[in-house]
Amino acid sequence: MSINILEIIYLIASLTFVIGLKMLSHPESARKGNLIAAVGMLIAVIATITIYQPFDNSKLINYGLIALGLLVGTIIGTMMAKKVQMTAMPQMVSFFNGMGGACAALIAIIEFQNHEVGIGNSFDGEFLVMLLGLIIGSVSFSGSMIAYGKLEGKIKDKVLPMNQLINVVMLFTIVALTIYQMLGYGDSTLFYILLVVALVYGILFVMPIGGADMPVVISLLNSFTGVAAAFGGFLYGNKAMLTGGILVGSAGTILTILMCKAMNRSLTNVLLGAFGGTKASGAKGEVGEQTAKEISISDTAVLLSYSQNVVIVPGYGLAVAQAQHICHELEQLLEEKGVTVNYAIHPVAGRMPGHMNVLLAEADVPYERMQEMEEVNPRMANTDVVVVIGANDVVNPAAKKDPSSPIYGMPILEVDQAKNVIILKRGMSAGYAGIENELFFYPKTRMLFGDAKDSLQKLTAEVKEV
Ligand code: TAP
Repeated sequence: MSINILEIIYLIASLTFVIGLKMLSHPESARKGNLIAAVGMLIAVIATITIYQPFDNSKLINYGLIALGLLVGTIIGTMMAKKVQMTAMPQMVSFFNGMGGACAALIAIIEFQNHEVGIGNSFDGEFLVMLLGLIIGSVSFSGSMIAYGKLEGKIKDKVLPMNQLINVVMLFTIVALTIYQMLGYGDSTLFYILLVVALVYGILFVMPIGGADMPVVISLLNSFTGVAAAFGGFLYGNKAMLTGGILVGSAGTILTILMCKAMNRSLTNVLLGAFGGTKASGAKGEVGEQTAKEISISDTAVLLSYSQNVVIVPGYGLAVAQAQHICHELEQLLEEKGVTVNYAIHPVAGRMPGHMNVLLAEADVPYERMQEMEEVNPRMANTDVVVVIGANDVVNPAAKKDPSSPIYGMPILEVDQAKNVIILKRGMSAGYAGIENELFFYPKTRMLFGDAKDSLQKLTAEVKEV
């Protein structure tokens, strides 16, 4: 009877995960969706602690330890989430993801103690699930920790000599050890060797990947953790864990694919290609023979104030400068003057999915003002002024015009179609892709050099005077 109640609770929890995930797809419902899924998870955890009975009908005895674990985890998680800066969100996701991977590996280790192996030749599905949970969870844990270290700037990009070859050899070793154990030769020494090899593989897998590619790697590792957690769900016959793991696994995979698509790069290119390492830079306003034209704060203020419609393109630099609030203030000021202002959001602007939406939402920019690339591009030619704030690659016309460019084929915001383009950035440094941007030298483009927050503060003050 109690098992049936537990099954129903797991079903309800699974439903909250699905509903929550669906609601996460829109900024307006995202918070509520997150809360619904979190409540579902809480119910599943409480029900497991209070109702679950192990298969041998023994009782849970370690309530003290469970309570301690919950307390420590809740305190650390809450503190980290409250303290984190918006720009540091990818590393926090990576850290939490690593913890998920570690849990999945720990489940496999604990369950291995209770499992008899090496007897007979019949296929032991439970042992296979255990081994897969151990491998994938360990890779996800160590890989996520390296990704976290790279994003925090604590670990530098490092490629060992023959790194890729070593990785291939390690992968084959993992497969060979798994098959060997599955054939009935498993013992605890081999099991722990497999654990160590998987942990080292996770480190070597992420180590050579460029720091700027970490968001894609984190998303991929996130899908690994989901799969590892689903294996844990199989082991315990826990439907909530199984559904949650499958949802995380598939959502992570879809996100990885979408990110690669939006950058027009294959996953292999992200994992093996050194992209986003070096950053080209030049003297203020100059790159080689070309000189970009500057514009003053007062001329920008006049141009914006007498326009009919303005499109703001936010990019990574807006997040770095933390200029979202002052940007919203400028937008409101222009609206008061009768100028129509909208934001054009590129799917991979910034460094994580939805980065710009979250940043602007934090400053209370209305959701309907944040328009997607497909929606804005057809209207670009009728736009009086496009203000590009700390964005670079997502407006680089080379993506459309230069087949030799590494970003060729990536869909871009076609700001070069607008009547005037004003670019706010500190100098001529390249963006994430490390390439120059012809747009800066177009006749209709003017550069407003300076930190985005500083420039926007001065601009806002000037617009008030016009
Ligand atoms: P980027 O191309 O990276 O350009 C950002 C620009 O901001 C830089 O050129 C920099 O120039 C400027 N900047 C930095 N700090 C600034 C500050 N304080 N004030 C003003 N400007 C500042 O950014 P983007 O256009 O948003 O493109 C995003 C890139 O990241 C794409 O290539 C995308 O593929 C990649 N990426 C995105 C994601 C996701 S999911 N969003 C994941 C992985 C990779 P200065 O130094 O000269 O100021």
